[in-house]
Amino acid sequence: MNHLVSPSILTADFGNLEKEIKMLNGSLADWIHLDIMDGVYVPNISFGFPVIEKVKMISSKPLDVHLMIADADRYIKRFREAGADILTVHYESCIHLNRTVTEIRSLGMKAGVALNPHNPVWLLKNILPYIDMVLIMTVNPGYGGQIFIEESWNKIKEMKEMIDEKGYNVLIQVDGGVDLSNARKLVEAGVNVLVVGNTVFSSSDPQGTIAALKRLD
Ligand code: DX5
Ligand code: ZN
Repeated sequence: MNHLVSPSILTADFGNLEKEIKMLNGSLADWIHLDIMDGVYVPNISFGFPVIEKVKMISSKPLDVHLMIADADRYIKRFREAGADILTVHYESCIHLNRTVTEIRSLGMKAGVALNPHNPVWLLKNILPYIDMVLIMTVNPGYGGQIFIEESWNKIKEMKEMIDEKGYNVLIQVDGGVDLSNARKLVEAGVNVLVVGNTVFSSSDPQGTIAALKRLD
């Protein structure tokens, strides 16, 4: 499968959000990644439903919504109504994770589960048959523009082995510190979806950078 690129708008220019989304519409981006932070699960607050709804109105790409919130279960339906197509929750934020991902799928979204850098991959062994994507956090969640954590390479390898062993149809997504220096190696290691924030939005040519992340030459 060809890999997907999901630019994170966390470091986009929110004063010109419409322009930024139109830029992504005209790019080779596959999805648009939206980071939802509540100041409790992570030490930062980003944005909520009004922004997602606005992005949905303008975007021609699926919305890949990453919840970094304490009580994700409370808002699953609301995120669907706001426009989420893929909804990813963190392992620790859902006590009955099987119920959560079942609800996400029953509402017509793809279900993802995210692991923090300190979480071992085997935590997801028994949920893999019920989900569409695993998100391996390659930085500690909360901020854009951080450095890629090197231990992530082992986790990607282990996760890929676990998925392939049973032949599950589950995508591997990575998020944090992805740039043009590591993107090719990540895809070669088995990553299916690259989330890229700072590298795209600090670039003088964001569409060209997205094209380079797709081409990987
Ligand atoms: C971090 C977020 C990421 C972040 C990635 O908590 O989940 O999506 O925006 O940003 P970069 O690519 O700048 O590390
Ligand atoms: Zn994210």
